[in-house]
Amino acid sequence: MSKTPTLRLDRLLANLGYGSRREIQMLVNRSCFRLDGEVLRKVDQKMALTADLCDRLQYFREPLDPLPGLVVMMNKPLGATCSHNEAGDLVYRLLPERWQKREPKISSVGRLDKDTTGLLLLTDDGDWLHQVISPKRDVPKRYRATLARDLRGDEGVLFASGKLQLESEKTPCLPASLEVVSAREAVLTLTEGRYHQVRRMFAAAGNHVTALHRLSVGGLALPEDLAPGAFRVLGEGEKAAVMG
Ligand code: URA
Repeated sequence: MSKTPTLRLDRLLANLGYGSRREIQMLVNRSCFRLDGEVLRKVDQKMALTADLCDRLQYFREPLDPLPGLVVMMNKPLGATCSHNEAGDLVYRLLPERWQKREPKISSVGRLDKDTTGLLLLTDDGDWLHQVISPKRDVPKRYRATLARDLRGDEGVLFASGKLQLESEKTPCLPASLEVVSAREAVLTLTEGRYHQVRRMFAAAGNHVTALHRLSVGGLALPEDLAPGAFRVLGEGEKAAVMG
């Protein structure tokens, strides 16, 4: 059986963005943290990172932020960018301010374009992130595309062929499946994630995507009641569902 990892209280809280180790010393001196109702007084106390720690360890009587290994699903709104380095409207700004100071950092699992909406996963777990985006895993991603022109009728065969060569790509796209919803709307399922892939695939078929929305990643669908810009933390079952 693997041993439960432990971390000093000040290191744990600093990693979760509660402040520098000095600031945490001050918060502890002010009796801001309690474990099972008892005030914590020692910053060097070793904390076992058990799944229930967030409920047992309180900050001003509020449960602690999620422990490392966090996965969040967001309904990415139009116009937000999946980048840590750009100015402007970043998806990370939609998360609580303290979460933006966490170490390891929270990053998006792959990227959605600024003009794409829908299911975006974010995590601080680098191993999990790499598993989801690994070509070996073939995690399917479903996108609903709204088109400027009527479908011609041959797109499904073209996209499924495994022979569609996009400009400046060395290899053709892997076979992708297309479900036609109406003359100008279709759902495309990809198992890879090339730059602007959906838009470029439809452009190669003589069309233009006017709106793009990601519906699901693996076995995890975006819930209809998650409003644009809203997010929530995934449970273990939902994390597993992403891998299919
Ligand atoms: N394909 C695109 O063209 N854009 C996205 O954001 C995702 C997939």
